[in-house]
Amino acid sequence: MQTLTDPQGRSFLYLRLSLTEACNYRCSYCLPDGYVADGKPKFLALDEIRRLVLAFSTLGMSKIRLTGGEPSLRKDLPGIIQTVAAVPGIKKIALTTNGCRLPHLVESWRESGLTALSVSLDSLNGTRFLAITGHNRFAEVVAGIDKALTLGFDAVKINVVLLRDRNDDELPAWLEYVREREVSVRFIELMRTGENRAYFERHHLRANLIEQQLHEGGWSLLPRAADAGPACEYAHQDYHGRIGIIAPYAKDFCAGCNRLRVTARGDLRLCLFGDFGIPLRQLLQSDADQDPLVSRIATQLGLKAAGHGLHQGLTGITPHLASIGG
Ligand code: 5AD
Ligand code: SF4
Repeated sequence: MQTLTDPQGRSFLYLRLSLTEACNYRCSYCLPDGYVADGKPKFLALDEIRRLVLAFSTLGMSKIRLTGGEPSLRKDLPGIIQTVAAVPGIKKIALTTNGCRLPHLVESWRESGLTALSVSLDSLNGTRFLAITGHNRFAEVVAGIDKALTLGFDAVKINVVLLRDRNDDELPAWLEYVREREVSVRFIELMRTGENRAYFERHHLRANLIEQQLHEGGWSLLPRAADAGPACEYAHQDYHGRIGIIAPYAKDFCAGCNRLRVTARGDLRLCLFGDFGIPLRQLLQSDADQDPLVSRIATQLGLKAAGHGLHQGLTGITPHLASIGG
């Protein structure tokens, strides 16, 4: 079995596949005016997804994360999960969702073969949640997470984007939340994208503050698995859950990069903030193209840059994360 590695010696153990650019939320840092389709976008169909995942599996990838936009807006999501689960070599299938449809749908995703779930929840306060997301769905998201916790997932995670003056005082509430719940709550530092410059200047906050409070409270850093996401995770003997930190502006963040992305239109992206995409879609139209598809992916990896240019204010071709998948 091959493994994907790049010139910096990093191996790529997991793929983040976006299923749609559409989203029904209007998160203030991502799509403040809501999603607007450009023309009639056609996102990858089931057969294209199957061929794509098969190619990555041939290259040694065993973990796929489905993202968006909001992937649950695709009516065929259970079928997509089943199809991905049936690809030989795929062992873990995770999904990132804004959680609005969880209470109705999470059981069907689990039955289709989903093994892990990440839910965005930027505040434990319903009024703040509404102000950040533009949607009054707090109760559904919270109920949906509790339902997910009964379904035997390998992991249930919550993503909180850390925002100055919006939700930066909530660590105590989150600690209470994870006391009895086996979830991993991860604070993500706000990232600058092409369209959120002014918002970023006002609300970006380094996650060191949270880490400092964790150390003071007796939390300890856990070792990181090879195919783990970008979070540094902390645990405490008195709490069932964990607290994680995702700090893209931290030194050496990119050195630990182990993931690749494919957009909902079938472009391979080597980095969230890269300045080019590699079209794969022509090679997804027939089972006969598997060999050229596999070699295109392997060859292009040689072009992956050593790190993002965020520190220089470069955001690449990413206008917002809904366009590529968080
Ligand atoms: N910076 C940090 N996180 C972001 N997300 C979306 N846009 C940004 C940004 N600019 C988060 C979402 C979700 C995850 C997939 O990425 O809130 O939790
Ligand atoms: Fe919010 Fe995610 Fe939708 Fe962007 S894609 S608006 S971050 S829920």
